[in-house]
Amino acid sequence: MYEDMERVLIAEDEIARRVRELGAEISRDYAGKELLVVGILKGAVIFMADLVRCLNIPVRLDFMAVSSYGASSESSGVVRILKDLEQNIEGLDVLIVEDIVDTGLTLNYLRENLLTRGPASLKICTLLDKPSRRKVNVQVDYNGFVIPDEFVVGYGLDYDGRYRHLRDILILKRQVYCGKEQRENCT
Ligand code: PRP
Ligand code: MN
Ligand code: MG
Repeated sequence: MYEDMERVLIAEDEIARRVRELGAEISRDYAGKELLVVGILKGAVIFMADLVRCLNIPVRLDFMAVSSYGASSESSGVVRILKDLEQNIEGLDVLIVEDIVDTGLTLNYLRENLLTRGPASLKICTLLDKPSRRKVNVQVDYNGFVIPDEFVVGYGLDYDGRYRHLRDILILKRQVYCGKEQRENCT
């Protein structure tokens, strides 16, 4: 497995430490309230599972799955909902949990969409922020790490559906994805 990897970017213990800090911060901010945590499938599942176990406030969980339309219409920011929330979020304190904000299109869409449903509050927590690729500005309330423009996998993040179960966040070797896909950082 690890022969596909260039190197570890963020090791398991560093992730765990930061997740505990985020959990403490979120618990403080929502003290006395109940939080609905919305995980965005599939990338967010590992982070979400660890994060919610660092919260010492009442919590409920729900999930959404989204997919962006083809690359040609990517800049429009149109996102399709594959699986919607199971509950009405009107009047609830909602926290969206994501693994990474890259172009920002996914979170920008989710934020706009969920705001139309009348939550009491809506905040965003992402483990990773890759600002170099941003197309639309998204206000992130809780962020774990700012990362450089590298293709990262592990801890929920995939390439072609693989590597989500790896415990570290790793930089994928160029040769694994170059040639299969046209990416601007393939040289
Ligand atoms: C990835 C990632 C974020 C999104 C970020 O999900 O998990 O959800 O892309 O990219 P953006 O900021 O450019 O919109 P992906 O669509 O790969 O689905 P997955 O979570 O199932 O891997
Ligand atoms: Mn995702
Ligand atoms: Mg993905």
